[in-house]
Amino acid sequence: MQRILVTGAAGQIGSELTPALRERHGSTNVLASDLRVPAAGSHLSSGPFETLDVRDRSRLQDIVSDHRIDTIYHLAAILSATGEANPQLAWDVNIAGLVNVLEIARAGGVRHVFCPSSIAVFGPETPRDPAPQLTVLRPSTIYGLTKVTGELLGDYYVQRYGLDVRGLRYPGIISSETPPGGGTTDYAVDIFYQAIQTGRYTCFVRQDTVLPMMYMPDCIRATLALMDADTSRLTRHCDYNIAGLSFSAAQLAGEIAKHIRGFVCTYEPDFRQAIADSWPQSLDDRHARADWDWRPSFDLSSMTADMIQRLRPRLTAKRA
Ligand SMILES: NC(=O)c1ccc[n+]([C@@H]2O[C@H](COP(=O)([O-])OP(=O)(O)OC[C@H]3O[C@@H](n4cnc5c(N)ncnc54)[C@H](O)[C@@H]3O)[C@@H](O)[C@H]2O)c1
Repeated sequence: MQRILVTGAAGQIGSELTPALRERHGSTNVLASDLRVPAAGSHLSSGPFETLDVRDRSRLQDIVSDHRIDTIYHLAAILSATGEANPQLAWDVNIAGLVNVLEIARAGGVRHVFCPSSIAVFGPETPRDPAPQLTVLRPSTIYGLTKVTGELLGDYYVQRYGLDVRGLRYPGIISSETPPGGGTTDYAVDIFYQAIQTGRYTCFVRQDTVLPMMYMPDCIRATLALMDADTSRLTRHCDYNIAGLSFSAAQLAGEIAKHIRGFVCTYEPDFRQAIADSWPQSLDDRHARADWDWRPSFDLSSMTADMIQRLRPRLTAKRA
């Protein structure tokens, strides 16, 4: 039985990945951790939790030793928009945190590490539709810089020390359980909350902005499938492209309007437009498909219908 530590577990992905891991491995075998303590009754209350700043190597080491951790899902990070507001913090958390995880793993005990990368590794010189697996990686955000470095560091620890480090380039993740944490694709989640609550949304990117996205159930499936994959099949380690769905902001608004009569979306691009413009519109994920049988299961219409079905009762009950 694996003994798993999830860092950054209170975030958008961790709050759904942690329960999925607990379902597979048993609640007591999956330790959630984060800088911030999750609210009582949150998705993390189904099992153990420790506060942890991933920059604190000795605390991380103590947690790994005390709980006999052999696998780390390292999700703690500062995302793109927040990173641009505080580049030094993004570098510290994303790089020092990852180095701490990898060094503790190398020293013994931890055998498997999952560390997600992002479409933010791409930049304006990358082919946009689709972005190939092996291509120019010259991002224009500090977040993207840390993610390219993270991919290369992970690959280095695989080659140099024989550690099992795996990662994939998540597109923008859309989910209904925990709000996103300061990324450029957050509009694709915010729009649902505002559409249901007010019938209006002011989008911070242009209507013709097309970005790669993925619905949370596919994100969880992809993560577990990569970690389950037989090592002998893997032709890559820390940088798998994975595609879910790609749509423009206007297409998303149009799909939501099919469910919410009279919904109006307006567009007022801010500094995040430049970040969105530097990212590709779609991804070539042939390696993920060949190596670990990756296939997305949600398209724009099934994702939209499912989001509204989950959020509407919750948000309208709150208002009542
Ligand atoms: N959500 C997306 O759309 C997306 C897309 C691409 C990649 N990713 C990657 O997936 C991972 C998880 O992202 P997320 O969307 O859940 O992010 P999030 O911002 O929702 O959650 C990150 C969590 O990390 C925690 N954290 C921040 N600094 C910390 C520190 N010093 N020590 C410990 N915890 C700290 C935060 O409290 C937060 O709960 C990140 O590596 C991110 O780069 C996410």
